[in-house]
Formats: sequence, C-alpha cells, structure tokens
Amino acid sequence: MAIRTIREIGDPVLNKVSKEVKEITPRINELIDDMFETMYEANGVGLAAPQVGILKRIVVIDTTGEDPILLINPKIVEVRGEQTGNEGCLSVPGKTGIVTRPNYVKVVAQDENLQTFEIEGEELLARAFCHELEHLDGHLYVEKVEGDLMDVEPYDDDDYEE
Ligand code: NI
Repeated sequence: MAIRTIREIGDPVLNKVSKEVKEITPRINELIDDMFETMYEANGVGLAAPQVGILKRIVVIDTTGEDPILLINPKIVEVRGEQTGNEGCLSVPGKTGIVTRPNYVKVVAQDENLQTFEIEGEELLARAFCHELEHLDGHLYVEKVEGDLMDVEPYDDDDYEE
C-alpha cells in the first residue's frame, strides 16, 4: 500500500468525468487499498479516485473510522429530506463552506467483486455519498456553497471534512 498525492482544486483532473470500472485487476485492487490508506492518513472521511488522479468510478468512505465503505460505479437511486451544514474537501485544503444536501440517500454500487449492492445513509453519510459521487462527474462542492468559502475554524465534529 502507498499514500498517493491528493490533487487540489485547479488541477484539471478534478473536473473530468470518470470511467466505469468493468473488471477488477490487481492495479484496481492496489488503487482501492491506496485510496483507503490515503484517506485515513489525511484524516478524511471520503475520497474519490479522481482526487488521486485516476479517472475511475471508485469511492471510499468512512465517516466513523470503523466503517469502511467501498463504492464502485455508484449511483444515487433515492433521496429524501434536506440538511444544511459545513462541508470540506481534501482537494480544497483549509476551506469549508455551507452546502445543502438531502438528509437521506440510497446508493446502488458494486463491491470489490463487482457484485451489486444497495446502501443507505443519513446525515453525514448521506452528505458523504453526495459529495464523493459528484467527484466522479468532475464536480467539487465549492460549486454549491451558499455564501462564501471560509477558512477552516477549529475542528467541529458535526462538519463534513472530507
Ligand atoms: Ni471532496
């Protein structure tokens, strides 16, 4: 496993559409391991493959530090409700902004064997699904910020700091 370099806003790779994963190769497995390691090392709760420069539809999320979630070719199939809160991104270091997201999100994705599964999330996890899946289509949360981007204040557990 290895820590990969996290691409930052302004890098054109972050604005490109990622490609579907059609087979699990040793390189894909290595990428997945590296994404988890890179996310944990950066104290993030989510990371999408384009953030490490790879345009493939792969996302890793862990909002508690104990619940690693791998999403391959994920799609949002249901949303409900609304939440408004702070969001951050490892690709936009030192910044945070207010974004409104659905409070409940259901995702259909594939696992490390390309088996399809469903996963639901509320609150922080729902926010993570939305934020990370947008990376796969070349979008950053800064496009959705209400008001101005702010400098990160002392850590608040309620914030989504990718
Ligand atoms: Ni992000």
